Amino acid sequence: MQIDETIRIRVGSGYDVVIGRDLLPAAGTFIREVTGSRNCVIVSDSNVAPLYLDKAAASCEEAGLGTQSFVFEAGEEQKNLSTLGRILGALAEAHLTRRDFVIALGGGVTGDISGFAAGCYMRGIPFVQIPTTVLSMVDSSVGGKCAVDLPQGKNLAGVFHQPSLVLCDIDTLSTLPEEIFADGCTEAVKTGILTGGELYGLLREDDPKPYMTRIISLCIAYKGGVVERDEKEQGERKLLNLGHTAGHAIEKCSGYTVSHGRAVAVGTAMIARAADRLGWSAEPLAAAVEEMLGHFGLPVMTDFSPEQLLDAALSDKKRSGKKTSIVVPETIGHCVLKDVDDEQLLEVFKAGMRIG
Ligand SMILES: NC(=O)c1ccc[n+]([C@@H]2O[C@H](COP(=O)([O-])OP(=O)(O)OC[C@H]3O[C@@H](n4cnc5c(N)ncnc54)[C@H](O)[C@@H]3O)[C@@H](O)[C@H]2O)c1
Ligand SMILES: [Zn+2]
Repeated sequence: MQIDETIRIRVGSGYDVVIGRDLLPAAGTFIREVTGSRNCVIVSDSNVAPLYLDKAAASCEEAGLGTQSFVFEAGEEQKNLSTLGRILGALAEAHLTRRDFVIALGGGVTGDISGFAAGCYMRGIPFVQIPTTVLSMVDSSVGGKCAVDLPQGKNLAGVFHQPSLVLCDIDTLSTLPEEIFADGCTEAVKTGILTGGELYGLLREDDPKPYMTRIISLCIAYKGGVVERDEKEQGERKLLNLGHTAGHAIEKCSGYTVSHGRAVAVGTAMIARAADRLGWSAEPLAAAVEEMLGHFGLPVMTDFSPEQLLDAALSDKKRSGKKTSIVVPETIGHCVLKDVDDEQLLEVFKAGMRIG
């Protein structure tokens, strides 16, 4: 086992995010330190369970925890009320009490749905995140947003429920398919634009992969700080939606066949190009942003028209009243929120389409 960094997130009673290698075999020991409980249920999906469930369960049992598990079919389509119901049923059948806890072992889908289940089972029991994708390490496992999708839209039902511990075992990333690895890197690039500094420097390397541990740590440290200052997304936390206005629109237009990571990559490149074109950026940004996304093989253009994207964006849940709040990069390391009306949003999408 090797611990590279431990980051404290000071929300509620606070929790540690431990980042390192070969952490899974020690998961039980870490967990025993944050809970007095004796029982847990590990929730995982059908791809992750065959790879890591036995290791996690053995470690919990060795630490003296009664350990049961629930495995659901992998995929965003399963992040729904029906799976949530089955997880809640499994927690009840395992006779979990309020002092017991849930372990989410997997990517963002597993983390979101397990956190929601933990947040409402017996009106809320603790949970631990063991993220196994880049996306869930750099983004979804920290911050306490837990949700499922409804037929009417993504993430429409959920709770804010902070984990008691997050264990990022970098070794689990070795089994990720290349495309899913890259998807998560979009959120790292997004964070690099928000923070500038060391993270931006690492993402600018020709091959950033050897620096993944540090990249993940810097992303978590930044997100943790934002969440500490604005847990419920009243203000600053909205900055984390950089690239997501066009990104969500692209996902929607594609009927969710374009992944979140790829859609947001295009959305991030679009807002950088738009900021340059519309005179909002204080320095040229687009080329640098496109280059960073290129390092991970991520796309920077879409075939959907600005009008199609506008239609999709206007039905997005993040729109309040008549205006849409978008995140605009002014420099690397400084982004601002801007409220735009529908006409301006169309102009942004149009400006974001043009290359060169
Ligand atoms: N709560 C938040 O703040 C937040 C933020 C961003 C995204 N999200 C949510 O996260 C979800 C996307 O997360 P994701 O991209 O991790 O999706 P995911 O959990 O579906 O994982 C992607 C795929 O990789 C597989 N997988 C996971 N870990 C693996 C490993 N180590 N080796 C091999 N295969 C592995 C999974 O089985 C799945 O097929 C979305 O539902 C999104 O809404 C939540
Ligand atoms: Zn995202």
